[in-house]
Amino acid sequence: MRKKVTIVGSGNVGATAAHWIASKELADVVLIDIIEGVPQGKGLDLLEAMPIEKRDSQVSGTNDYKDTAKSDIVVITAGIPRKPGMSRDDLLSTNYNIMKAVVGEVVKNSPNCILIVVSNPLDAMAQAAYKLSGFPRERVIGMAGVLDSGRFRAFIAQELQVSVENVTAFVLGGHGDTMVPLPRYSTVAGIPITELMEKSKLEALVQRTRDGGAEIVKYLKSGSAYYAPSAAATEMTEAILKDKKKILPCAAYLQGEYGINGLYVGVPVKLGAKGIEQIIEIRLTTEEKAGLDKSAAAVKELCDVIGV
Ligand code: NAI
Ligand code: 2OP
Repeated sequence: MRKKVTIVGSGNVGATAAHWIASKELADVVLIDIIEGVPQGKGLDLLEAMPIEKRDSQVSGTNDYKDTAKSDIVVITAGIPRKPGMSRDDLLSTNYNIMKAVVGEVVKNSPNCILIVVSNPLDAMAQAAYKLSGFPRERVIGMAGVLDSGRFRAFIAQELQVSVENVTAFVLGGHGDTMVPLPRYSTVAGIPITELMEKSKLEALVQRTRDGGAEIVKYLKSGSAYYAPSAAATEMTEAILKDKKKILPCAAYLQGEYGINGLYVGVPVKLGAKGIEQIIEIRLTTEEKAGLDKSAAAVKELCDVIGV
């Protein structure tokens, strides 16, 4: 039997994630939203694409959580996105209220699922989902690092004119202005990029990565990025469904790792069938650790506002 993935929120990120997941035949997909008709229409449209794509994934849309029952993975994309001039943090209280409405229903209908949280502000929403669900930390994972690292990788590949397949990169910390791209752990075919690029160029790419979300918002004007974010959530979904034991930067609930306790922050983790199977602690320089601590403090400030 194929696995089942529910995507909560059938907007830009949710519907595009459904597209990637179904077209890779990773699972059957259920889209759910509060808006009547939209998940049903997008689900049917995707189902009708499957014969053309030569995929047997079932795709459907609903407004009723009963149809999401026994999902293996639930990806939460419900929430409002940014508009120009807004930071991710401006979404805090609205999206926390949405999270409260969503997580209870998800847990009731899919008590054994793994939650992948996408809604912003990401780390605080992941923390909210963790607290609201009562799930173990292995089963509540935030998506941000894969996206931020993907952006960094794209910029590095473009700058050095090399295949994206040769480029690995790590961006840690919270998904915000304080995120911590790590050039020392970013490589081209195993060669650290610090060896391949002028410092000033590297710094410019790091800053462009930090501003990556805002760069897209500025172009779109009425919403935020969704192709790369949904591809990132799909990579995490695939790693779990195929038990790949893939090392990816994800927001995870730290309990002492990196000297941080009781907080979601982006760190390298091993993703497999059980969700987060290991939190990997890499050695950081004093400067990198200070960056991570600053980022964690920014996440904590948001969590304190909503009391999670
Ligand atoms: P969107 O506006 O296109 O879609 C959001 C959908 O959520 C809408 O269809 C809306 O009806 C639905 N929704 C609202 N309340 C709901 C509820 N209670 N139950 C079910 N559905 C509900 O927004 P988009 O672009 O898809 O972004 C979604 C969220 O993901 C935003 O908060 C955005 O900031 C965040 N995001 C996070 C990223 C990350 O790296 N973690 C990257 C990109 C977006
Ligand atoms: C992004 O980084 C909006 O968080 C979203 O594109």
